[in-house]
Amino acid sequence: MQLENFDIELFLRDYWQQKPLLIKNPWQEWINPLDPDELAGLACEEEVESRLVIQQRPQWKVEHGPIPEARFATLPKAEWTLLVQAVDHFVPDVADLLDAFRFIPNWRIDDVMVSYAAENGGVGAHFDQYDVFLIQGLGTRRWQIGALCDETTPLLPHDELRLLARFKATEEWLLEPGDILYLPPRYAHNGVAVSEDCMTYSVGFRAPARGDLVANFCDYVLGTLTDDDRYSDPGLAAAKNSGEISAEALKNLQQMVADKLLDADSFRSWFGCYSTSRKYVDDDIKPEKALTTSQLLKHLQRGEILLRNPTSRFAFVRDDDRIQLFVDGEPQNFAPALNNFVETLCANTIVATDTDLLNSSATIELLTALFNQGSLVFADDD
Ligand code: SIN
Ligand code: CO
Repeated sequence: MQLENFDIELFLRDYWQQKPLLIKNPWQEWINPLDPDELAGLACEEEVESRLVIQQRPQWKVEHGPIPEARFATLPKAEWTLLVQAVDHFVPDVADLLDAFRFIPNWRIDDVMVSYAAENGGVGAHFDQYDVFLIQGLGTRRWQIGALCDETTPLLPHDELRLLARFKATEEWLLEPGDILYLPPRYAHNGVAVSEDCMTYSVGFRAPARGDLVANFCDYVLGTLTDDDRYSDPGLAAAKNSGEISAEALKNLQQMVADKLLDADSFRSWFGCYSTSRKYVDDDIKPEKALTTSQLLKHLQRGEILLRNPTSRFAFVRDDDRIQLFVDGEPQNFAPALNNFVETLCANTIVATDTDLLNSSATIELLTALFNQGSLVFADDD
């Protein structure tokens, strides 16, 4: 699905990462991509991350998934919300929502979380660290937004929910199906269902914390170092005071660290892997049976369609004419003649098969490697 009445350039210039924006139904025709029952079904699955937030005034109760099916029959009539993470991994029509936001690079995307709220349900006033497009799917929700928050903003005591101790609404909107509220990071917000069957799709982005970048990149650099890569000082001048660590020694020592940390090639390779790691890395996505290149080719010749696994992350980086491909946290080898193919592969969720592709053994080799690691799947495998 694409946004029809929406000026991308204007949005990026005046709103993205700056201020909230209500986007009144910008779709050509909004179709709610998932039924409440299907969402409840997902919440019952072991491999799906879900939670129920129930208001038992003045308390907020959280129950983590998988939610037993029978639990839904015992829920109160009002004031509860079911939240399911990464629904785009399981429901292609929900994953398609992401296509409307491809003007933001894929590596910034986290997932599409879907909530279902009974009347007056909500998760309380809070702030998130990430940009989010809150798409109203079904029913009506009142969204209120408040001040920009930070680490010092007082929270209510709660083990699991980071609810604001105080919330003063500065703006308020009623969102109907198809409407979208964009929120930059750290804006206080509170969404309350004002109808039954209120569904909201949160297209959430991620922004790495500097601390995570430093910690993870340093780990990567450490893995590349050898024990004999050491400080050395040939031509050492006689020390005037043997107790002093000289400015020159300090400069050389710091340079040893900086050389590694500022190496653009290693940062590029590391970030390609880091940013394409899957959201749920422990899930095994390998196919039951690996294919040889000729077997894969036969499938394609029969007209079968290869798709990117919806849980997989693909990205490429460019260094002059050189392109490096990263898929699911791993660098991928391919012949330089495939540069254009790799760029297309990263831009589209479907692998376009044409005669050129079927005749290129280098392309089939790359596709086979990606299929065998589970990052590509055949369309009817769902
Ligand atoms: C919801 O969908 O109920 C909550 C979304 C959010 O506030 O981030
Ligand atoms: Co939120």
